[in-house]
Amino acid sequence: MLDLGCGEAVWSLRALELVPSAVADGVDISSHALSAAEQAAAARGLTGRLSLHQTPATEFSATKPYDLVLCVGATHAFGGLKETMDAISAFVRPGGLALVGEGFWERPPTPDLVEAIGAFPDLAGTVAAESGGWLTVHGHVSDPAEWHEYVFSWTGTLARWAAANPGPDGDQALAVMREHRDLWLNGYRGVLGFVSLLLQRVVK
Ligand SMILES: C[S@@+](CC[C@H](N)C(=O)[O-])C[C@H]1O[C@@H](n2cnc3c(N)ncnc32)[C@H](O)[C@@H]1O
Repeated sequence: MLDLGCGEAVWSLRALELVPSAVADGVDISSHALSAAEQAAAARGLTGRLSLHQTPATEFSATKPYDLVLCVGATHAFGGLKETMDAISAFVRPGGLALVGEGFWERPPTPDLVEAIGAFPDLAGTVAAESGGWLTVHGHVSDPAEWHEYVFSWTGTLARWAAANPGPDGDQALAVMREHRDLWLNGYRGVLGFVSLLLQRVVK
């Protein structure tokens, strides 16, 4: 499998545990995320099955097609969902799978919100990504409890780090945390959804 914008490779590591015959390539531009992925792979005994590549997703090339390509929360690396599906098409074998996680408007956003976090389609518009040689074979819409866990986890991590690192860096971390948390609490909570689509590449 190939994990584009893999971050700490949470998805790939879980998949490697579930499918003992699988191997994975993870691609990301963040050295911090890739180093965390490397440590997590070692801790779980998966080092030899995960190859990590520090490069922009648009510059990654492969010599043979993959059974599964993931791009979760990272379609911005290609400039949007359609561009991501086009790029994934070049990596997946016919009949293979893509797992793509993307935001969508659960409710119509205010213009300010679009300005602050960007433009998304609604769920129907997101599922329309299957046009051009793909079929949606499953989808999971993150529920409110998952959203709360996600946002409070990462903002809480930043808050704890700021408390442990008083001074200019801690202040900056707190400011970033508060700015984003406020945007969620007063803006996109319940308005922006997140769907993980499993798509199969149509055999022609
Ligand atoms: C929201 S995180 C998602 C990480 C992972 N897919 C997951 O679901 O846990 C987005 C990731 O995309 C990476 N990213 C952003 N721009 C990228 C690019 N041009 N090429 C590759 N990775 C990129 C970031 O470094 C970050 O790790």
